[in-house]
Amino acid sequence: MDAIDIIRAAIEIAREVAAERQLDINYQVQDVCDLSPRGDQYDLIVDSYCLQGIVFDEERARVFAAVRARLRPGGYYLVSTAMFDEKRFRQDETVTDAQTGIVYHRYGDKGLIDADTGIAYVELDESPDLYEGATEIAGVWYLPSRRHLQPPALKAELERAGFAVLYQGGDYDENVICTLA
Ligand SMILES: C[S@@+](CC[C@H](N)C(=O)[O-])C[C@H]1O[C@@H](n2cnc3c(N)ncnc32)[C@H](O)[C@@H]1O
Repeated sequence: MDAIDIIRAAIEIAREVAAERQLDINYQVQDVCDLSPRGDQYDLIVDSYCLQGIVFDEERARVFAAVRARLRPGGYYLVSTAMFDEKRFRQDETVTDAQTGIVYHRYGDKGLIDADTGIAYVELDESPDLYEGATEIAGVWYLPSRRHLQPPALKAELERAGFAVLYQGGDYDENVICTLA
């Protein structure tokens, strides 16, 4: 079994847990957006709450292409991901960016969301110069940090990416099971 995460410390913790449980897992520090176009083939590929942190379409398309290239015919792609959360969405509290005309909604304590794209932004406490991709919205600096889609939008995205969705369920935490279309 192979497993990846972009953060070395996360991989080290996972290695310790696997050793305690006597699991034989080959861990690597790797950016899921930067996998080679080809690789080993798998009967099951699991994304455990990583996809919500892959914000932009181009990066997500690279992830899906890498999964497609590695999934055996008849294999399963299981995505567990944090979806758009009605409880954090403030329908009546909007922020309009005069430059782009985009209307954002307040989302959680210090966040915004573009409900059309599902891109969620977190307000920066520190200088935006410290953060690649920091963006100014109505005079305040934010970082695009998560992608929280509604279930139909996630299904459509996976289908556009070449998967057939066999099962989709859950609430704010959703599980989707796909095969190659
Ligand atoms: C919410 S945590 C989930 C951790 C673990 N997979 C689990 O299910 O308990 C999200 C994980 O995704 C990893 N991650 C975020 N972006 C990534 C990327 N581009 N490539 C690989 N891993 C990434 C983070 O380092 C973090 O460990």
